[in-house]
Amino acid sequence: ERTAADGATAVAHPNIALIKYWGKRDERLHLPWTSSLSMTLDIFPTTTSVRLDAEAADDEVTFNGSPASGEERRRIAAFLDLVRRRSRLTHRAVVDTRNTVPTGAGLASSAGGFAALAVAAAAAYGLGLDDAGLSRLARRGSGSASRSIFGGFAVWHAGTPTAPPAEADLSSYAEPVVAGDLDPALVIAVVNAGPKEVSSRAAMRRTVETSPLFEPWAASSRDDLTEMRAALLRADLDAVGEIAERNALGMHATMLGARPAVRYLSPATLTVLDSVLELRRDGVSAYATMDAGPNVKVLCRRTDAERVAEAVRAAAAGGGTVHIAGPGQGARLVDESG
Ligand code: PMV
Repeated sequence: ERTAADGATAVAHPNIALIKYWGKRDERLHLPWTSSLSMTLDIFPTTTSVRLDAEAADDEVTFNGSPASGEERRRIAAFLDLVRRRSRLTHRAVVDTRNTVPTGAGLASSAGGFAALAVAAAAAYGLGLDDAGLSRLARRGSGSASRSIFGGFAVWHAGTPTAPPAEADLSSYAEPVVAGDLDPALVIAVVNAGPKEVSSRAAMRRTVETSPLFEPWAASSRDDLTEMRAALLRADLDAVGEIAERNALGMHATMLGARPAVRYLSPATLTVLDSVLELRRDGVSAYATMDAGPNVKVLCRRTDAERVAEAVRAAAAGGGTVHIAGPGQGARLVDESG
């Protein structure tokens, strides 16, 4: 017999996809058209506690010390409803979440956020899930969160493509990827920390529904994943970088092909991309990837990270901040008494 704890606290980190998730085939279950692969970071943690409250009439959500409202609150409450349905407990919860990353800027704040919430809520409500179960649960908050359950490199399986959604739901989760000794870093150039104008959810939907470039990208992304796994296994950083860069540029091409176009890339993005090309011309292994925002993440060797950071900082010309991340740990429960 499983019992619910009074409460639990979890910490999780964001992840950056090297093979992107772009496009859902089931919006409610967050089932993707393609599998994706990412590196979990060792910076920008989110810490979330969930405490059951038998007396409360509603969930109470605090975000970085202030009461959450609007869409943010709604998404967290909907997620807790899902946890409650599975636990057969009806208690409302007091949720306190703190993160250190700009929200909604294409810096994967939702990945760390929902991974931490999934781990804390599953423990608080006594769901007794293994890592695959936690990954499936985190997926329901935000697709990319399924990957932040794991540290290092993780692959999120799209789930059996021919199966009906209710069945594919069972096979769509992330798991760790076996990689050789890459010693990688991701240099994150924040050229604009403001929230995006189009949410990734709306942008994905528009891309899938209207872009003639979506299907060809999805097909090539499946091949990219196969090549990526092989490149990771043999610790071939240049191959990993080349595949990641073309996969990301292809994803942005699908959005540019949408009607109307979704364009997250800004002039500053392109200036940073130019600096990455220049680094490569100078013999530095540096490769770019971009998500649902103008910010650029540059994959390189840890030993080159300072030099890469210097170059992209100069390219951003005072207009941005630069962070260096290495591979981080998966989501985990922490002792809140300490
Ligand atoms: O999980 P979401 O809805 O925040 O989607 C994020 C999608 C990208 O960050 C653009 C790509 C990815 O795989 O993380």
